[in-house]
Amino acid sequence: MAATATAPLAGIKVIDFTGVQAGPACTQMMAWFGADVLKVERVTGGDVTRHQLRDIPNTDALYFTMLNSNKRSLAINTKTPEGLEVMEKLIREADVLVENFAPGAMDRMGLSWEHIHELNPRLIFGSVKGFNDESPWKDLKVYENVAQCAGGAASTTGFWDGPPTVSAAALGDSNTGMHLLIGLLTALLAREKTGVGQKVSVSMQDAVLNLCRVKLRDQERLEKVGYLEEYPQYPNGTFTDTVPRGGNAGGGGQPGWVLKCKGWQDDPNAYIYFTIQEQNWEKTCQAIEKPEWVDDPAYATATARQPHIFDIFADIEKWLADKTKYEAVGILRTFDVPCAPVLSMKEIAEDPALRASGTVVEVQQQGRGTFLTVGSPIKFSDYTPAITGAPLLGEHSTAVLSDLGYTADQIANFQVAHVIADPAEH
Ligand code: COA
Repeated sequence: MAATATAPLAGIKVIDFTGVQAGPACTQMMAWFGADVLKVERVTGGDVTRHQLRDIPNTDALYFTMLNSNKRSLAINTKTPEGLEVMEKLIREADVLVENFAPGAMDRMGLSWEHIHELNPRLIFGSVKGFNDESPWKDLKVYENVAQCAGGAASTTGFWDGPPTVSAAALGDSNTGMHLLIGLLTALLAREKTGVGQKVSVSMQDAVLNLCRVKLRDQERLEKVGYLEEYPQYPNGTFTDTVPRGGNAGGGGQPGWVLKCKGWQDDPNAYIYFTIQEQNWEKTCQAIEKPEWVDDPAYATATARQPHIFDIFADIEKWLADKTKYEAVGILRTFDVPCAPVLSMKEIAEDPALRASGTVVEVQQQGRGTFLTVGSPIKFSDYTPAITGAPLLGEHSTAVLSDLGYTADQIANFQVAHVIADPAEH
């Protein structure tokens, strides 16, 4: 079923006053699930991502199209009295307003939460900032990697002999947007009972930390016992009073590591992730052709293996040396070894199964032809989002204003005064 009147969020009107990634990722998913999402953008250039890292001249960048599909665009200067009036009219009719501007920007524009709540008590207001209201850094502007550093991800990622390292995964941006989405949907459910909307705030630092929960667990364990047995530093290295970087070690009770496969000398992704599952040790030994390890006291238990776990991984790499990553996983899966090939972005882009599931989709885009994007990772039994292109800057300005009751003359005057953007300037 496509995004029609029966889509899960059909009838929910969202004002998408967001930019870059955190806010747009949240509202894009609402649009996929059927909400009417109107992106309100600056007249001059719109969302900055339209222009960032362009691959085709004068064409909205992939950064923008991949985060703003299924939306409409109104480009209006909300710092003019006319623009503010338009915003206020939209707010009166909307269910949700989402913003992720720099701290204080909404207040400076005349759109404080108190004013918004007064205009429309049913409206739910979603807000992303770098830090929460109690933080001494709450006035900071924040991007992805800043949040990863402040949220505990960077200090615990990478190798022990290297600097703090950020992840390629958007833990600060899209992850915060997903947290906000959960908050907004929860507030929509609450409104069913109370009839009243509320403000939902998510800080990027908090959202990153929520994904680093097990590292806080490790901090507490370290303080109790002085070491972390699943980290490569145990038992031969040293621990300080803070959680170290553990390289590619598994974060749970199952040791694992990234292991070289055939061709690793030339292919930077000829690796698999290999997990030694305690309850699967016997089959693991059979899989890697080391049946003698099953009962050998130096190998038979996790405690016995840990002191020489890297020697064990080195032996497994010898077994992997004549197998491609796909061949290795093909064998290991028959022995129930939790493992996967390290996939490059090229392999992911070409993966037929990811295409078949709608996780990677090809989308039509005005002025571009088609582009590849990540579709919905959430699958419903009774709903399949239909992913469409992203709007041009101000593409729907005239239609939106006329729906709000503005006459053709008034709209023309807005254009002359540059209160709204002409999509042709795009
Ligand atoms: N018409 C007129 N003015 C508009 C407008 C519109 N349609 N849309 C936005 N503006 C104004 C804002 O009100 C703001 O005004 P100000 O001068 O009073 O601050 C100004 O444009 C710039 O806004 P913003 O995009 O927030 O500033 P920036 O480019 O300097 O900072 C961020 C960008 C991302 C660093 C900042 O927005 C931020 O820290 N956001 C919170 C955390 C976040 O979401 N980070 C990004 C994660 S992807």
